[in-house]
Amino acid sequence: MSKFWSEVTKHTEPYVPGEQPQSTSIIKLNTNENPYPPSPKVLKAIKQLVNGDLRLYPSPTAADLKLTAAKYFGVNEKQVFVGNGSDEVLAFSFLGFFNPGEEIFFPDITYSFYPVYANLYGLNYREVPLAEDFTIPVEQFFNSPGGVIFPNPNAPTGLALSLDQVEQILQHNREKVVIVDEAYIDFGGESATALIPKYENLLVIQTLSKSRSLAGMRIGLALGNEQLIEGLERIKNSFNSYTLDRLALVAGKAAIEDVNYFNETREKIINTRERVAKELKDLSFHVLESKTNFLFIRHGTVPSQLIYEKLKEQGIYIRYFNKNRIDQFVRVTIGTDEEMDTFIKAIKQIIGK
Ligand SMILES: Cc1ncc(COP(=O)(O)O)c(C=O)c1O
Repeated sequence: MSKFWSEVTKHTEPYVPGEQPQSTSIIKLNTNENPYPPSPKVLKAIKQLVNGDLRLYPSPTAADLKLTAAKYFGVNEKQVFVGNGSDEVLAFSFLGFFNPGEEIFFPDITYSFYPVYANLYGLNYREVPLAEDFTIPVEQFFNSPGGVIFPNPNAPTGLALSLDQVEQILQHNREKVVIVDEAYIDFGGESATALIPKYENLLVIQTLSKSRSLAGMRIGLALGNEQLIEGLERIKNSFNSYTLDRLALVAGKAAIEDVNYFNETREKIINTRERVAKELKDLSFHVLESKTNFLFIRHGTVPSQLIYEKLKEQGIYIRYFNKNRIDQFVRVTIGTDEEMDTFIKAIKQIIGK
């Protein structure tokens, strides 16, 4: 605490990201990164731009990247917003669409950045309890006084709502913005982008960090009707005109264009996930049905914290949340087949099989 801190600084409770150890010898299954490198076309595009032009500012409108995304998602470029990771897009959205004094709804077990933004902006919020089986209770999200935000699929549970369920939430919040955070949608969920023409209150947020292997470049996007996107532009241009740098702009474009590579790598991850889920079930783990690139699991008898600590001793990092209702679980990102074999071998040792 410093006497120089503003009231906001004093009272904010920042988000704590998963550990980011820099050693290359560890197996990193703790922050839902993609185990495969970005498309070779992305790397080529970046290398071509590493030149003297870096002295120039990037495009403040990111028009090229937006056009590419618009084509891919079947919307027009005025329906696309891009930002420095979806975290930034989320931060702008909370400020752009939610008002203090009007309670917003999000699940009690969800992405832990949501309460951080809500507190930072002085928003009132209700943490709607997930059902016993960790599914999102759709009706509890109806008629929010301030708006709604939830990830689909949810994190850290990995469970997805159907498009029909997402639509019910939209129908029952017509006067408020409903934000669907689709960070993990490409690993098996149904995207709400199909509903954009029908719902002016829908904002879909996606990221290139997960299914397009670009966590290190920080590229996120939002899709929705033109007025919502214009709102986000107003907020962005009140903070920083150049949120994406020159390299990120070309990397994002190349990543979205290389559909073959995207499909190949995400299918590999889905196949690995299904195989590992089955192996874990055979080892007496309770495994939630994941539509993401991670598994949320609990062993029948061995405590999760112990599993987390023992794996860490062996250089295998997974995520443990010391939080009510989920402290019996650990979250494991899907790595390569080889990494997951090492993980399963270590797990067998820990649980004594
Ligand atoms: C649900 C959810 N939303 C958003 C993000 C942020 O992703 P990024 O800022 O890398 O785009 C994450 C990252 O783990 C996430 O789990």
